[in-house]
Amino acid sequence: MPDTPLPHRPDLFTWEFAADPYPAYAWLREHAPVHRTTLPSGVDAWLVTRYADARQALADARLSKNPVHHSEQAHRAGRVGIPGERQADLMTHLLNIDPPDHTRLRRLVSKAFTPRRVAEFEPRVQELTDRLIDSFAERGSADLIHEFAFPLPIYAICDLLGVPAEDQDDFRDWAGMMIRHGRGPRGGVARAVKRMRGYLAELIHRKRADLGDDLISGLIRASDHGEHLTENEAAAMAFILLFAGFETTVNLIGNGLYALLRNPGQRALLQASVARGESGLLETGIEELLRYDGPVELATWRFATVPLTVGGVGIPAGDPVLVVLAAADRDPARFSDENTLDLARTDNPHLGFGHGIHYCIGAPLARLEGRAALATLLTRLPDLELAADPDELRWRGGLIMRGLRELPVSFTPSGG
Ligand code: HEM
Repeated sequence: MPDTPLPHRPDLFTWEFAADPYPAYAWLREHAPVHRTTLPSGVDAWLVTRYADARQALADARLSKNPVHHSEQAHRAGRVGIPGERQADLMTHLLNIDPPDHTRLRRLVSKAFTPRRVAEFEPRVQELTDRLIDSFAERGSADLIHEFAFPLPIYAICDLLGVPAEDQDDFRDWAGMMIRHGRGPRGGVARAVKRMRGYLAELIHRKRADLGDDLISGLIRASDHGEHLTENEAAAMAFILLFAGFETTVNLIGNGLYALLRNPGQRALLQASVARGESGLLETGIEELLRYDGPVELATWRFATVPLTVGGVGIPAGDPVLVVLAAADRDPARFSDENTLDLARTDNPHLGFGHGIHYCIGAPLARLEGRAALATLLTRLPDLELAADPDELRWRGGLIMRGLRELPVSFTPSGG
């Protein structure tokens, strides 16, 4: 099966695919649900596209997150993992490790990154959201990626971590470099990661001497059976919180708004519900937007530690396995009317935040930001509409994430 040519297999990882990968995923789910392919980086990997197989693979302890299980050569060439992280010594974060280290670090971060800390952060997220909308509300037009979806998560995570306000624009620039260079030369990403690494190391050092209420201080303070995070572990943790919590949330807001603008009936229902002060449809709606066009297309790398079988297909030890969350979440075997956006959907165990021990630790924060962003925009700019031909919009189709590069909109100017 692995190397058998597949008649009519749609091209993967092209620009057309980035704009709408769902027909290709439907084809894979039906004809080649566990499929070995060559990625644009030249690495061969297995794509898992059916919901049941995906859920099982995400929880399979024989699939390691640690890149040492992959061929040394591909690993050294920097072809797996987050570009730039190796040079900057940030490898030991949650998405690259297995138990027992993962269990220890996850327990430590959970003590600092609590649901209560996130809930207490709600007024601040609301304030940030309003401030960003103020900056373009009187103009009558905006690019909602650059002016809204992009800065909101950066400022939010910086605030939560305890990055002083005067340094947050540096983070905005570094994050911008990381996103812009997603498919381009690696140098820019590596430089941005390195600067961020240097800054975080220094910040952690300063905070250790003067602990506050922020998340970095919480990480330094957290102890587990007398163990503390080393400064290196704390820096890697702060980095992965930033990295994992930033472009994902940009895309939740961007893809989510786009889906609403393309589905006026659903948008009208949500707008009316929010205007009545209800939260129910907004909450199920965020989950549905994660299922329908989630920010994370493929879960991050996993490697077979032993020969194993997924969906009846044998995978040799050492091979990378990529679980295609976006394909699993449109599997008609699990979701009725899988291609329909239904904000009121309640039977919705989507995999947009992953599954198993690596389930997204930032999900409560992402949901909070998503709710604030969508509800506030629809309330303050009620006649918001797309100001571009949908076919002309450009998508950023990195390997892991998928999102719009720009989202031009127009609306009746509002004084705020
Ligand atoms: C893990 C999605 C926002 C921090 C994950 C995983 C997914 C995911 C799919 C699992 C990856 C895998 O198993 O390979 C998302 C989406 C988000 C989002 C769709 C926004 C809509 C955030 C935020 C933060 C965050 C805001 C932090 C501030 C993390 C971390 C992990 C993770 C640290 C690794 C957890 C572990 O390995 O134990 N996320 N995420 N994420 N996410 Fe998120």
